[in-house]
Amino acid sequence: MTSVGLPAEVKDGERRIALDPIAVTDIVRSGCSVAVQAGAGVGAGFSDGDYKDAGADIVPEAADAWAQELVVKVKEPQPSEYPHFREDLTLFTFLHLAAEPELTRALVASGVRAYAYETLGTGRQLPLLAPMSEIAGRVAPIVGAYHLSSHQGGAGTLLGGAAGVPPAKVVVIGLGHVGTMAARGAKGLDAYVMGVDVDLDRLRTAVMEGVVDGSLASSEAGVGEAVADADLVVGGALVPGARAPIVVTEEHVRGMRPGSVIVDLAIDQGGCVATARPTSLSDPVYVEHGVVHYCVTNVPGQYPRTASRALSAAVAPRLRRLARDPRGSEDDAELAQALNVAGGRIVHPIVRAALEGAAGEGAG
Ligand SMILES: NC(=O)c1ccc[n+]([C@@H]2O[C@H](COP(=O)([O-])OP(=O)(O)OC[C@H]3O[C@@H](n4cnc5c(N)ncnc54)[C@H](O)[C@@H]3O)[C@@H](O)[C@H]2O)c1
Repeated sequence: MTSVGLPAEVKDGERRIALDPIAVTDIVRSGCSVAVQAGAGVGAGFSDGDYKDAGADIVPEAADAWAQELVVKVKEPQPSEYPHFREDLTLFTFLHLAAEPELTRALVASGVRAYAYETLGTGRQLPLLAPMSEIAGRVAPIVGAYHLSSHQGGAGTLLGGAAGVPPAKVVVIGLGHVGTMAARGAKGLDAYVMGVDVDLDRLRTAVMEGVVDGSLASSEAGVGEAVADADLVVGGALVPGARAPIVVTEEHVRGMRPGSVIVDLAIDQGGCVATARPTSLSDPVYVEHGVVHYCVTNVPGQYPRTASRALSAAVAPRLRRLARDPRGSEDDAELAQALNVAGGRIVHPIVRAALEGAAGEGAG
């Protein structure tokens, strides 16, 4: 019987929990014990009583949850959590190691076996990233529109325009899960939406399905022109496991209109806008070259009820498989792709290459 630990999240503004009580019921029925830190689900609307009824043990301290064989979380461990790392621990959570050299060092030094949600999958499917991307993508036009208000430091442009006034222009970089949802939301608010991607099939489908008004193949010159008169730019470009490609350069940002807004959701993998740097839910924006930047790394954390249920539904079946053999699981194709660190080494080749590249540039 594998013991599963569910500590409370500690990242700024983070109220999600990786398993809801329904998922805990299933995991307990599959033969595992589950230790939930007291209060861990409260921010998402789940009480300790709900978890107790689901068959979990409620434990008073984070250390009690971390003491279990298999710890399941939402966000990448924060420095205050590193002391819980140990050789016989298996960790299942978002890690985003390409943008987290310090966390990588702590995982490697401790010998933790660490599986990352964001690389779990086969082919192009990333089933644990997708639900959070869907939610973050839906949030992007909401926060973008909000920060375009002159009272929030924006230029005072309303996405949908008005009779006799053209709508705002929204450029979405990367038309995957984040980008598609962001484009749909912006279209729903009556903005003019342009989608940018390297994948022409994706662009064709988005145009045919009416998700975007126009499409553009991703290139430095093309993107520079497209963002120069944009009111809102949403970043959602991803190469799985790797540092995000820089699609919008600093020169492009300099060329944007003052008071326009960038929402770079790819920031968890380092950002696809050169001037993006991570921000938090409590302090989400800064201004650079006159452009408002919103680069929060845990956007779904502000909608914990929806996000926890969506994440839990995707995590639970994979967790049940991992719990059968938390120190093995290499014969499971999805879980094998998720394994990032094991035996004191970075074992995922793309993650390793990304971090070696960063170290070479002096970022390690
Ligand atoms: N900040 C947050 O809170 C948050 C939440 C969820 C997801 N994310 C992040 O958003 C990013 C996107 O996730 P996703 O699930 O939409 O990924 P996805 O794989 O579904 O889509 C990524 C898209 O980017 C495109 N792309 C790759 N290189 C490109 C380039 N050079 N120019 C233009 N497009 C390019 C791909 O072709 C693909 O269509 C990831 O980094 C993910 O971790 C962030």
